[in-house]
Amino acid sequence: MKISVLTLFPDFIRSLTNYSMVGRAINDKILDFEVIDIRDFAINKYLQVDDYPYGGGPGMLMQAKPIVESIESCKSDKSKVYYLSPQGKVLTQEKLLELRDEEHLILLNGHYEGIDQRVIDNYVDEEISIGDYVLTGGEIASMVVIDGVTRLLDGVLACEDSFSDESHFNGLLEHPQYTRPKDFRGYTVPEILLSGDHEKIRKYRLRESIKNTLLKRPDLIKNKTLNEEETQILNDLLEGGKDNGYN
Ligand code: ADE
Repeated sequence: MKISVLTLFPDFIRSLTNYSMVGRAINDKILDFEVIDIRDFAINKYLQVDDYPYGGGPGMLMQAKPIVESIESCKSDKSKVYYLSPQGKVLTQEKLLELRDEEHLILLNGHYEGIDQRVIDNYVDEEISIGDYVLTGGEIASMVVIDGVTRLLDGVLACEDSFSDESHFNGLLEHPQYTRPKDFRGYTVPEILLSGDHEKIRKYRLRESIKNTLLKRPDLIKNKTLNEEETQILNDLLEGGKDNGYN
């Protein structure tokens, strides 16, 4: 997988490569990572990349030429161009899995009041938002995408289990986790986790995962197709949870 990041703040993006998982993926040649400074394609010797919006209005817009030339400097038939923008579809774990299967992601970061619409209409494949709020630019959103995708690449996490078990992987939030000691200031670990009975632990965790999702993100349950076991657990929880299924 290759990721090219187009930005006016290359050092900010490069700081990501110094830190654990992304840096390791680059060193291990799992991720080919490049940062392109849009200012290298500025329209004049003053390194101008922005201008006033036609029709008036506040702030400055990034101009088409520097952006399009920076896209063209790294694009091939295998590339997909993503513009990080609050107008995009909100990023989900499912989308990260889709991005993980692309060969080359080009992440375009806007600044100022945005970018010339002709770039979006003619050179961008998709807009991605990281949430319904507005940031000063796309860089932090790009870092979210880079981090989220990198950890899904083969060979980055210790084993597939590391993410097949976690929140959002199967449309549910993760069950709670505990580590030593068994008793921390009187707060104890659920007995079942110490039982060594793998089937009971599996059922307990599934139930806790559904309970967590129901309490914290009921919208996820509505969008998920539950299997028979999950449906039974959900119905039981909705009825007050007498049958906890693992005792
Ligand atoms: N740029 C500014 N705000 C953003 C957001 N919410 N998501 C992605 N890119 C952005």
